[in-house]
Amino acid sequence: MKKFLAVLSTLVMVGSLASCGGTSSSSDNGTGANTNSNTESKTDAKPADDSSSKTDDSSSSSGGKTVGIAMPTKSLERWNRDGEYLKAQFEEAGYKVELKYSDNDTNQQNNDIQGMIADKVDLLLIAAIDGNTLSQTLADAKDAGISVIAYDRLIMNTDAVSYYVSFDNYTVGKLQGEYVIDALDLKNSDGPFNIEFTAGDPADNNAGYFFNGAYDALKEYIDAGKLKIPSGKTKFEQVATDSWSTDKALENMQNTLASYYTSTQLDVALCSNDSTALGVAQAISSDYSGKNTPIVTGQDGDIANLKNIVDGKQSMTVYKNVNDEAAATLEVSKAILSGQTPDAGLVSSLSAEATYDTESYNNGVKVVPSYLLVPYVITKDKLDVLVDTGLYKWDSDNKYLESTAKTT
Ligand code: BGC
Repeated sequence: MKKFLAVLSTLVMVGSLASCGGTSSSSDNGTGANTNSNTESKTDAKPADDSSSKTDDSSSSSGGKTVGIAMPTKSLERWNRDGEYLKAQFEEAGYKVELKYSDNDTNQQNNDIQGMIADKVDLLLIAAIDGNTLSQTLADAKDAGISVIAYDRLIMNTDAVSYYVSFDNYTVGKLQGEYVIDALDLKNSDGPFNIEFTAGDPADNNAGYFFNGAYDALKEYIDAGKLKIPSGKTKFEQVATDSWSTDKALENMQNTLASYYTSTQLDVALCSNDSTALGVAQAISSDYSGKNTPIVTGQDGDIANLKNIVDGKQSMTVYKNVNDEAAATLEVSKAILSGQTPDAGLVSSLSAEATYDTESYNNGVKVVPSYLLVPYVITKDKLDVLVDTGLYKWDSDNKYLESTAKTT
């Protein structure tokens, strides 16, 4: 069924994998941190027989090791899913798990990770709140001999992070931009259409990738005058949203509508993710007086946003299967914890499509070897693709989707 999804995702996906490069600046810096080649550590990782991997067998391979998982916050829907899937999959494989959510507070996340170091966890998986504020804590982890995997968000300015497991973040934005190009038929139409951007948290290294992916895809149409940005906010810093907050996105869009759209049509609200799209859609519902329904993009497949997609208040979401991200992280972790060096060979043992990238993600100190999974577009007519993942189901009226996950 995973295989089925992988095939499906290739079909649904609009962008191409080959694009990881994009903005992802520095392929420079030959720190050589990643000798991707010959390490003949072929990650002999157990044949993906998972199904039957019950505790006896698995706990012997895990050696009773403990994995510390640091998630940013429970207040944004996806991290609840990440935490839950990671915990379940690691426990299933026989590991003990210490899972912390840090309330989007960088000090708390540092303290939480320090606590896990003191507890002598064997490995740390960290989705950083602020990619720039963990250097000292991770130096302590390194001193204690604990490997670190940056989960979903790259951790900056530290040599203590060994691997990065995420999605192709630039492609997420690119898919949003390409959706807009198709929806407005920009290749054949002169427009002009009006677009406004809403980006993510500047402390999150992903946010720039998402914005750049979308902006780069649309740039030729902006340059050609087919797309106009009445607010003049064309830079990431001008449209960033602290903490990816729905309320801030709502307020920013209300201000934009009041300042630039009292008698102008808004055609597109390009939002980097679902939490911001939720606020923007709300602002459009309450404060936009135009007769049209603007295109609103998103990312994550959050339940409230899938409802908005059914109700026509959001046009699409870029979906990243977080259960696959957890599974990939488990494979990388198993290899590290059994003394192997994960490399390109590990990709073939993953149940979802992924690439191994040793060039794109420079954290300022080193290029962090990365496993990047594939995002794809979900629209109203594609909601069954989500049901096919097993992570969503139709509600009793067959109208909206619900999560099959236990809510934490
Ligand atoms: C994740 C997105 C998410 C955002 C806010 C990003 O780092 O990659 O999936 O929407 O954080 O939670």
